[in-house]
Amino acid sequence: MSRVLVLNGPNLGRLGSREPEVYGTQDLNALRVLLAEQAGSAVEIDVRQSDDEAELIHWLHEAVDAATPVILNPAAFTHYSYALRDAAALVTRAGIPLVEVHISNPHAREEFRHSSVISGVATGVIAGFGFDSYLLALRVVAPGT
Ligand code: DQA
Repeated sequence: MSRVLVLNGPNLGRLGSREPEVYGTQDLNALRVLLAEQAGSAVEIDVRQSDDEAELIHWLHEAVDAATPVILNPAAFTHYSYALRDAAALVTRAGIPLVEVHISNPHAREEFRHSSVISGVATGVIAGFGFDSYLLALRVVAPGT
């Protein structure tokens, strides 16, 4: 069975109650269910969330070592974490797909959200479609889902 790592950065553990007008009313568990439904029995979906940069970096190292495709919502780290960028680059330079996703469209929001230090090393970016951003990314990293 193939696996996909779905990594979520800071404050995404608060989905459901955090700025529902921006991020919707569904929580991370609802995302887990939606992804598992789309994946079916052929692909194992491993959804994780951390507020800790180091933990996210370790998970990206794990993806490199196990050659596991990654769907990454770096949350606010998107805009300034060079350490996360370097870890994401390890994934894609190993030939493993990594799709950067965002629930909202950062380009339609505050100026500081307009730049991503991750996009330049990601395989691709999907933003602005709510939880569908993740579902579209899953289709890319696990063709046939
Ligand atoms: C986000 C957008 C980021 O700017 C923000 O810091 C987040 C969530 C999104 O999914 O829309 O925490 O990555």
